[in-house]
Amino acid sequence: MTTSNPPATSVAPAPLPDHAVVPAVWSRITNLDIDRGEGSWLITRDGQRYLDYSSGIGVTNTGHAHPRVAAAIAAQAGKLLHGQQNIMYHEPGLRLYDRLRSALPGGPWQAFLSNSGSEAVEASVKLARVATGRPAVMAFRYGYHGRTAQTMALTTAKDVYRAAFEPLPGSVYHTPYPYCYRASGGAHSPDACTCDWEAQLDLTFHQFIYPDQVAAIIIEPILGEGGYIVPPPGFLPRLREITRQHGILLIADEVQTGFGRTGEMFAVQHWGVEPDILVMAKGIASGLPLSGIMARADLMAAWKPGTHGGTYGGNVVSCAAANATLDVIQEEGLVANARDRGAEFLAGLHALTTTHPAIGDVRGLGLMVAMELVKPRVGDGRVPDPELTRRIQAEALSRNLIVLTAGTYANVIRIIPPLVTTAAEVDLALSILDESLSAAGA
Ligand SMILES: Cc1ncc(COP(=O)(O)O)c(C=O)c1O
Repeated sequence: MTTSNPPATSVAPAPLPDHAVVPAVWSRITNLDIDRGEGSWLITRDGQRYLDYSSGIGVTNTGHAHPRVAAAIAAQAGKLLHGQQNIMYHEPGLRLYDRLRSALPGGPWQAFLSNSGSEAVEASVKLARVATGRPAVMAFRYGYHGRTAQTMALTTAKDVYRAAFEPLPGSVYHTPYPYCYRASGGAHSPDACTCDWEAQLDLTFHQFIYPDQVAAIIIEPILGEGGYIVPPPGFLPRLREITRQHGILLIADEVQTGFGRTGEMFAVQHWGVEPDILVMAKGIASGLPLSGIMARADLMAAWKPGTHGGTYGGNVVSCAAANATLDVIQEEGLVANARDRGAEFLAGLHALTTTHPAIGDVRGLGLMVAMELVKPRVGDGRVPDPELTRRIQAEALSRNLIVLTAGTYANVIRIIPPLVTTAAEVDLALSILDESLSAAGA
């Protein structure tokens, strides 16, 4: 039997389906139709350029489509797309597992690779329970750890992430976080923190759960979804002491803060704190799905073969992307760039507070920066203003700058530039924010 090719015709591509094919559960930040990305920029199908200071929610640390990362992905995709971890070893995976062992001081570390941030948080809790033989876990109020069942139970950043999904897994306890701007005794500088988080933690141990029943306390070193809240300087070191006293493992959820974002490879390094388990995702592979945990090798050994795993974890193409990402972070000095550009951004935001009274607080570390919007002449001057926040975000978008919001009351403008961003782009973003604040009436 012979086959012949159909005659060549120049058929126009089918029109794009309507946006309504995407379910509304994906709450929308923009309705842009994006064709491609280049560094800090997203380019729409009709050629408009947007400065992407969302980084796809803190993922594209090396910028969009970094040529080295894209080339590593293309080369690997042509060889093997799926190298299942139970069935084989593959070179990108072996190299990545090995490199991660020295990505964080201390240890000795061993990594476990999975797909999403939530999945890695789940892994950290499972490992903590197995390694300690203890049932309970603790988390901090305002924290965000994901949207799977266990991670929803840990999350309190905002009602929408959990409130419609009760019952949630039990033996999870929350304790207050030192949110200095919103302290009940009044806003104060984190450098002169008077928050009573330690007394509250002690109370939690006396009212809810014996400390010797707690497997782990999970903490984001800088709270992300909860509002980009930087802790007071003594907080993490003291929490490390307390957890050690009680034999409780400390899990650092660095899904958002990792891979250079805050001006250190991992945020815990700002305070010289060594966790027992570190959770990583987002920036690790420049946008390909990859996550994992780094645990002390003695803890990792507590996991018997088969007690955890997954079909796709440590995907070979994602591992190739991660190796290229680590090369780019190192060779292009992105951690230092995050520190320097972040300092410029923070200084710029502080300057804006003099002309925009609705900016109640400015905070951040590295390229993880935010401003909290309030109604300045209402109540004690800290009443959240989510409507104003939404207007500022919309005004920025109309000026081709993409920023996100955060915070329990959605009253925080959250800025997450790619770590490749330039000083000129930072200046541009600051001037757009200045105009947007004025246009929104801040
Ligand atoms: C600190 C933190 N932990 C966990 C997660 C969950 O990651 P994912 O959305 O990849 O499941 C996120 C996502 O934003 C996060 O910021």
